[in-house]
Amino acid sequence: MTGNPARSPAAPDATPSLRHPFLLACRREPTEFTPVWVMRQAGRYLPEYRAIRERVGFLELCKTPEVAAEVTVLAVDRLGVDAAIIFSDILVVVDQLGLRVEFVRGEGPVIHPPVRTAAEIDRLPDIDPAAGLAFVFDAVRLARRALGGRVPLIGFSGAPFTVASYLIEGQASRDFLQTKHLMHTDPGAWRALMRKLTALTTGYLNGQIAAGAQAVQLFDSWVGVLAPDDYRQFVLPYTRQVIASLTRGVPVIHFGTGTAGLLELMRDAGGDVIGLDWRVDLGQAWRRLGPGVAVQGNLDPAVLLTKPSEIRRGVRAVLESAGGRPGHIFNLGHGVLPQTPWEHVVAMVDMVHEVSRR
Ligand code: CP3
Repeated sequence: MTGNPARSPAAPDATPSLRHPFLLACRREPTEFTPVWVMRQAGRYLPEYRAIRERVGFLELCKTPEVAAEVTVLAVDRLGVDAAIIFSDILVVVDQLGLRVEFVRGEGPVIHPPVRTAAEIDRLPDIDPAAGLAFVFDAVRLARRALGGRVPLIGFSGAPFTVASYLIEGQASRDFLQTKHLMHTDPGAWRALMRKLTALTTGYLNGQIAAGAQAVQLFDSWVGVLAPDDYRQFVLPYTRQVIASLTRGVPVIHFGTGTAGLLELMRDAGGDVIGLDWRVDLGQAWRRLGPGVAVQGNLDPAVLLTKPSEIRRGVRAVLESAGGRPGHIFNLGHGVLPQTPWEHVVAMVDMVHEVSRR
């Protein structure tokens, strides 16, 4: 925060947002209740989002700052969450590399051509994210203005490994065999790709911070497919470099799924907050991580497909596991599922606030 003393009500910094529960929890400071937000909180489970998507394609939505900002704020208004996350996708950076990404209904993202050889990696341009990703920075500025300091705005990026896995596989994958093949058979090419993505990710996140993002989340969503030793050799140095190169004073959330075998290594790579999925007990995971980090998570998104009494049980279990210690941000363990009744998300947010109030 720049400490601008001006207090015009329209200015993004008009409220003392550093004191906001979400940002306090990122710094492990006590809060009156546990702050909560939801990964993919602006998405297909929301009727207002579906209505907008009838008029606008997904990528077009990401690339139209006014609408991306509108969708960002819509989720906050609808849910009463304690943080906004800028509406975008981890794959909007793919264009910058001279590749194309398409979102095929029912199949997810498809990247063409995929990048699998040293020659193909060599041909990827060195990118200046500031040039090609201005639409995201504009969306961040507009969302900050529209939020008016009500809740902090989170920027995000895919982490180098998870973005690399999409570039190499060309689509979603279960086993990530091509990715692992490249890593093991041509480590030089792998490292060249990770270096490019490290530079891209760093510039992209710092651009979002400069535009007004008050925290950033690094999504290493698929890193849990790796053996710990492969993570240590082939991923950790790059993630560490990204995190170490980010503008100081802005909390970093480092998230992955299936990471029970990687938690200490992820912590060593960096981040003020470690994002956990539901496959680990949050309290046990936090003990392994130690007192120097905050944690985010970790209700199973499938619980939101049940009924309010079950949701309450799930919310209580996560909060009990966190034990009321400062530095817990409530979230799902992964993105909200498209078939979730939106009323259940609202109920979950209210329950977190009510049950955790101190
Ligand atoms: O959290 C938020 O509300 C911010 C928006 C956001 C989206 N994608 C919007 C989106 C964020 C943070 C992401 C991150 C993202 N994108 C990740 C990391 C998080 C995670 O879930 O692990 C990944 C792996 C992607 C790549 C991606 N984009 C996938 C796998 C899909 C799903 C494909 C499908 O059709 O199910 C997307 C599309 C996507 N990203 C949608 C949204 C709202 C749905 C697109 C639509 O409206 O049809």
